[in-house]
Amino acid sequence: VNASEFRAQFPVLHRLAYLNAGTDGPLPAAAAQAADAELRSEAEHGRAKQHFERRGELSEALRALYADALRCPSADLSLTTCTSEGLAIVIDGLRLKAGDEILSSDEEHPGLLGALAAAQQVDGVSVRLAPFMEIAEHVGPHTRLIACSHVSWITGRACPAQLGEVEVPLLLDGAQGAGAIPVDLSALGCDAYSGAGQKWLCGPDGTGMLYTTPELRSRLAVKRRGYGNLADPDQGLQARLHDDGRGLDTLSLSAETLACALAASGTLQQHGWRQVHERARSLSGCLREMLANAGREVISGSAGTIVTFASPDPLQERERLASAGVILRDIPRKPWLRASVGAWNDEHDLQRLIDALAR
Ligand SMILES: Cc1ncc(COP(=O)(O)O)c(C=O)c1O
Repeated sequence: VNASEFRAQFPVLHRLAYLNAGTDGPLPAAAAQAADAELRSEAEHGRAKQHFERRGELSEALRALYADALRCPSADLSLTTCTSEGLAIVIDGLRLKAGDEILSSDEEHPGLLGALAAAQQVDGVSVRLAPFMEIAEHVGPHTRLIACSHVSWITGRACPAQLGEVEVPLLLDGAQGAGAIPVDLSALGCDAYSGAGQKWLCGPDGTGMLYTTPELRSRLAVKRRGYGNLADPDQGLQARLHDDGRGLDTLSLSAETLACALAASGTLQQHGWRQVHERARSLSGCLREMLANAGREVISGSAGTIVTFASPDPLQERERLASAGVILRDIPRKPWLRASVGAWNDEHDLQRLIDALAR
């Protein structure tokens, strides 16, 4: 499959210069069809034993696919409904208390800040925010966890490599990493990595994945239990959690969501992760150059797939771009716009953005 055949699998790109995967990726046609087929089958055949077996099979297939995307063992991968849920599973599970500290950064998304605020407000944990590129230097005697982005949703910068060498457990928010750039968990040195299914992996909303090392997992308390994560749910009060990544699974994912996610991320996997990452990187490099040539200050100088640039009036400009068929987002409280560039985009999308900005 060449780049244009690959692109043709995303219906939204027939009409729009869609540069918004950092929010929600473009959904491949095959993903919509897979969800539709699943629902039709449920409507026609009902939802009995076979339906539950089917959900189990789809879950294991999706776990394997996400594990392939993150290059980790399936056994260390849990299925979640979103990045935020995975982050909260780890932060809540550590049962930190007053006197303990979580170190985070000044470039975090509400998806992580929410769980940190809960730790602070509900459990009295202290939360300290350091400049994103300097977090490693701010670890203190009471730091029990470092929780920060792998890739900043604001600037697209990747977290500093020194973080992996710090002794304190490291939880990475991979919302802008998983599917966007190659993720090397051992090089990152993280103990947990939470990603989104709906962003750079192009799946439906309500999907995500959480990687944890067995050591970290063994330390996490899991208070939400049910069919979704129990090894022997029929054992009543004696029922135990799965002892691998399944033990942290979210409690219920529908067959249509699972099938949709499988077909969506499967479209990327079939194209090849390396091709997907390299093309996204090279196109985002092109866009940085085009923006600079067009006289726009580019905020994200890094090699990532997020291209943030200055805008005199981001809200108004975003609307104007949308009416010209160019979809991107603003960054709250900053005079900036953010374009997310994926392998599904092409030079024509980038030129449409530049032309619409000039108008
Ligand atoms: C860095 C970062 N973290 C967390 C989130 C929240 O993601 P989710 O909706 O998958 O919980 C986002 C979403 O934009 C994000 O960019």
